[in-house]
Amino acid sequence: MQDYREFMEEVLVDEKTIEKRVAELGAQISRAYEGQELLIVCLLRGGITFAADLTRALTIPHTLDCMSLSSYGVGHYASSGNVRVNLDLMTNIEGLNVLLVEDIVDSGRTLAHVLQMLGTREPKSLKVCVLLDKKYRREVPVEVDFVGFDVPDKYVFGYGIDIDEHFRHLRFIASANMTKYKKSL
Ligand code: IMP
Ligand code: MG
Repeated sequence: MQDYREFMEEVLVDEKTIEKRVAELGAQISRAYEGQELLIVCLLRGGITFAADLTRALTIPHTLDCMSLSSYGVGHYASSGNVRVNLDLMTNIEGLNVLLVEDIVDSGRTLAHVLQMLGTREPKSLKVCVLLDKKYRREVPVEVDFVGFDVPDKYVFGYGIDIDEHFRHLRFIASANMTKYKKSL
């Protein structure tokens, strides 16, 4: 795998800015669910880094579960809309406050699918926290309750978000020049 510096366009969100925003979101979510139990549902794999930091910024009692979805069909570097469940929750969410934690909302198809699916299990509440929102790319309306940052319509990576499964470990979020990336493959 090549060095990310060969195709990185720019750092969109640096480490300090992420840290500060995650702390703010933790406080905001803690206030919103004060006095209530909360189940954090981390959407694998992109949500791992964000969920790990976010849960440690919460000051209310909560538990954690994970779920893995993938979209398949056309478009390798974009979500196609056909969503498959690879790994379901271990927790029975009936009557629970559920907060989905996801890396990016783009077309909205992934979240729309998982919200519809989990909604049928009758949780007490079902909300969404995303680290990054590509607002202008929305094809399906989804209500996002907590947002880290709005990002432009560019392919991004780092802080849990991958390109071909690499670069999730980076502490910042950057945009990629995908033409340069593909050329160097
Ligand atoms: P949606 O279903 O179109 O909203 O796409 C959401 C999913 O697509 C996210 O969970 C990511 O896995 C993936 N995705 C969307 N944009 C990017 C990106 O810029 N970099 C990496 N993954 C992305
Ligand atoms: Mg994802």
